[in-house]
Amino acid sequence: MYLFLFHFDFHVGLRVLVVGSGGREHALCWKLSQSRRVEKIYCAPGNGGTVQVAVNVGISSEDIAKLLEFALKEKIDLALIGPEAPLVEGIVDAFEAKGVRVFGPKRAAALLEGSKAFAKEVMLKAKVPTAKFEVAQTFEDGLRAAKNFKKAAVKADGLAAGKGVFICNNRGEIEGALGTILKEGAFGKAGSKVVIEELLEGEEASVLAFCDGKNAKLMVSSQDHKRIFDGDKGLNTGGMGAYAPAPVVNGLENEIKSKVFGPVLALMAKNGTPYKGVLYAGLMIKGKEIKVLEFNARFGDPETQVILPMLETDLVDVIDACIDGYLDKIEIKWKEGTACCVVLAAKGYPGAYEKGREIKGLDAAAKLKGVAVFHAGTKSEGGKILTCGGRVLGVAGTGNDIASAIKTAYSGVSKINFEGMHFRKDIGKKALERE
Ligand code: AMP
Ligand code: GLY
Repeated sequence: MYLFLFHFDFHVGLRVLVVGSGGREHALCWKLSQSRRVEKIYCAPGNGGTVQVAVNVGISSEDIAKLLEFALKEKIDLALIGPEAPLVEGIVDAFEAKGVRVFGPKRAAALLEGSKAFAKEVMLKAKVPTAKFEVAQTFEDGLRAAKNFKKAAVKADGLAAGKGVFICNNRGEIEGALGTILKEGAFGKAGSKVVIEELLEGEEASVLAFCDGKNAKLMVSSQDHKRIFDGDKGLNTGGMGAYAPAPVVNGLENEIKSKVFGPVLALMAKNGTPYKGVLYAGLMIKGKEIKVLEFNARFGDPETQVILPMLETDLVDVIDACIDGYLDKIEIKWKEGTACCVVLAAKGYPGAYEKGREIKGLDAAAKLKGVAVFHAGTKSEGGKILTCGGRVLGVAGTGNDIASAIKTAYSGVSKINFEGMHFRKDIGKKALERE
């Protein structure tokens, strides 16, 4: 007990670096700014919203050498890594090697996101429920492996910014996807292998967990809305909105912990590559049956924008418990109620999109009770906030139940506008229907 008191009471005045520039990173900075232990927050490279609570640093999230140099120079006490690319490149290994305290998986553990074939092998060995699959490295092997499937999800093995998955409903489409990845090399090195897997049916949900190498503690569940249009129509996007908790996960938490997180953490530890950080399981749920679609080695975006508003415990206390391996000794408290986040996108997104449009109404939205506006593709210039990305803002609302969270989020949305702005009108509808 003495040790914990020591830890909690004296490690205050922290200087924290958040790496990344999206809505997720703004939400992380926002949460850290509420921590009793944090004195100063830097965000590299940040966006037009992170400047409200952090100091933006003009270093790319992928420039590990410069980020490390900055962390050493500024005596950073704790670094949080948002996006997958630097994690898979080994930013945690590099920071730890120089004694910089950092929250996230090392390169060998981040491979759970960095290689879909690796993740599937881990799931197979750990007996985690997942779709049947084959791995192929040449087009010819792919064709042979695909004989076992009438329909399939064909996936580039490596990181492909969410674009490497093809849902194929017949053999022609499967061959087309194999050709795109293995013959045309559309994803470069990330497509040197493919995973071909059985198509699953059901409803998707995201379950993220804090992990300390041995123990996992589940966060509130959430659900992303990946397609661009209402009713899950149209092209895939980086995520058009989210809510938490997700009723489709209700009652399945213990099973998810014992069948997914427990076995994966145990196997990773046994292999000498313990998993520390946030592990995100993308699940397909059909009735009471759960299957893992993918793992991400980080917080989700836009899931983080609805999960963090629900977290009661100081985020830094949780992160300390992960890094120092005593997650089983702390209680993580979550608030009662629900959060909903609606993403506002630029004209053209998810295709080529417009930039440089002035955003109006941000202050009016932020003043509403229960509303938090998280910036994603924005920049601050000459006293104005301009659009500079496809997903521009995430407007989050909290409430006692999903209906009120949705109402609050959309009331925030109604205050904001920029030329070409578009958004989904049905975020949270699936949760409403289940209630
Ligand atoms: P992934 O990056 O592997 O999660 O795939 C991206 C998206 O493709 C998922 O969110 C699902 O919507 C879809 N997907 C992936 N694998 C499957 C599968 N085996 N069956 C059905 N849909 C899938
Ligand atoms: N929301 C999907 C992701 O973060 O990958």
